[in-house]
Amino acid sequence: MTRRPETIAVHAGRPPRVPGAPLAPGIELSSTYVQDGPVAYGREDNQTWRAFEDAVGELEGGVAVAFASGMAAAAAVFESMPVGAKVAVPGGAYVGTRSFVAERGEDRFVVVDQAEAAGADLVWVESPSNPMMEVADIAAVVASASGPVAVDNTFATPLLQRPLELGADVVVHSATKLLSGHSDLLLGVAVARSDEWVDRLRLRRYKHGAIPGPFETWLALRGLRTLPVRLERASASALVLADRLAAHPAVERVRYPGWGTVMAFEVRGGAAGADAVVGALRLVVPATSLGGVESLVERRNKLVGEEHVPPGLLRFSVGLEHVEDLWDDLAAALGSAGSAASAGSAAEAGSVAARP
Ligand SMILES: Cc1ncc(COP(=O)(O)O)c(C=O)c1O
Repeated sequence: MTRRPETIAVHAGRPPRVPGAPLAPGIELSSTYVQDGPVAYGREDNQTWRAFEDAVGELEGGVAVAFASGMAAAAAVFESMPVGAKVAVPGGAYVGTRSFVAERGEDRFVVVDQAEAAGADLVWVESPSNPMMEVADIAAVVASASGPVAVDNTFATPLLQRPLELGADVVVHSATKLLSGHSDLLLGVAVARSDEWVDRLRLRRYKHGAIPGPFETWLALRGLRTLPVRLERASASALVLADRLAAHPAVERVRYPGWGTVMAFEVRGGAAGADAVVGALRLVVPATSLGGVESLVERRNKLVGEEHVPPGLLRFSVGLEHVEDLWDDLAAALGSAGSAASAGSAAEAGSVAARP
């Protein structure tokens, strides 16, 4: 029976449907297993991981491998490439991914520019990108690539974009964000179609030890059950707020593809103007990360490695609050901050270390 994503999110990863079976999967807490079975040690496999992996794999159309964080999943993809491989990572990708590749580029990879992506051994795509909200044509990238294509699908989720169906080889998520959705855990997942990639990912996880905690994985599956409704609600609010922000005199530009729960908007008055807005918000929380039930905002240019981001740009992750409460908060903050920024009262913030 074909299951639509809303149904997969609710039903995938449950124990077999037999009389007396629990409906929810258990949390398997064991470091080792009685010998001569399919699993010998807790770094190899875990039934709670499998439950989460079954659900994400079915949603993305591949086989999922869970990791301790989104960065661990991304690192496993890069580290699956042979020494000296040419990897192309866009300049607008998540700062953590760029800094990982740049560091390993000193001895492990040859990092090439996006313009040379066609000749690269691995092409990395992040769409929409964090925080500039650039949307890539994944099918076109796949068509012009000579090697495997990996897509960071964190912002879109498999409900809005399924890169494997567009020809990508691997999909990566920071499951810390929308997949789990409650800002209470860190987790990552990589999904692939070919046995070769799935084996590589499992081997990297086993060797690097970047394994997820069973409890975090269980919580993430619990959060995943409501992903479709969370996404629908937050996306509807985001669309309304993007339109209103674009029409607001204190806002210079809104970056929103017209779908999804994350946007970026540029406040007039640069860093000072944007900091004043953040300081005046009472409901939206100034915090890094995104994709949770609560709305979060962050001025990204203050982070090391985000110098290309306009100083007045605020990344805004829309949560599940009532849209009018969110707008009341934003409108009040934009109003009060407009005068503060023009009076030059908000100080330029210094840089802080790279963050999500
Ligand atoms: C697009 C994207 N990819 C990957 C990551 C890294 O994920 P994690 O923080 O779970 O390691 C993040 C974190 O913000 C992200 O935004």
